[in-house]
Amino acid sequence: MEWDSYYDLRYRILRQPWNQPRGSERNEGDYSAIHAAYFQNGVIKGVARLDLMDNEIGQIRFMAVETDSQGKRIGEKLMVHLEDLAFQNGRRKIILHAREIALGFYQKLGYEIVEKSHLLFGEIQHYLMEKAI
Ligand SMILES: CC(C)(COP(=O)(O)OP(=O)(O)OC[C@H]1O[C@@H](n2cnc3c(N)ncnc32)[C@H](O)[C@@H]1OP(=O)(O)O)[C@@H](O)C(=O)NCCC(=O)NCCS
Repeated sequence: MEWDSYYDLRYRILRQPWNQPRGSERNEGDYSAIHAAYFQNGVIKGVARLDLMDNEIGQIRFMAVETDSQGKRIGEKLMVHLEDLAFQNGRRKIILHAREIALGFYQKLGYEIVEKSHLLFGEIQHYLMEKAI
């Protein structure tokens, strides 16, 4: 895995547009999480992370697809892959905090809104979503 390009994509899609500093795209959980990346002709085009939580729950975080590659089912492939890994690891429910702009993406994959959650950078509303697997 090319870790520099992995975190660079995460940074450019999820942090840079809000003028957040390099490094803000990472956190402690990265050491123990399961990471997934989608490559096309050797170039990284999508990334996502799965945290194996307690109580048979998996949480998907930091889902990001390269701007020029959005809408080509890369996000869907990453989600299905991480859901499979969660299931193989004994998890039976996936939770995630979706940005308001991405709610439709997760709904198409079978996720339901549980409740409104946090506001990131003072402007990006998130919603807690879940799906039984
Ligand atoms: C949101 C994101 C992860 C989706 O990945 P993607 O590869 O572009 O989406 P896919 O091509 O796999 O889309 C699968 C389906 O979801 C739909 N979809 C994709 N993005 C959507 C969105 N933002 N809102 C509503 N529907 C969306 C697609 O139209 C497609 O629907 P269909 O089955 O009717 O054809 C990606 O566009 C992205 O990284 N966006 C910017 C960062 C972001 O918002 N990340 C999520 C943080 S919670």
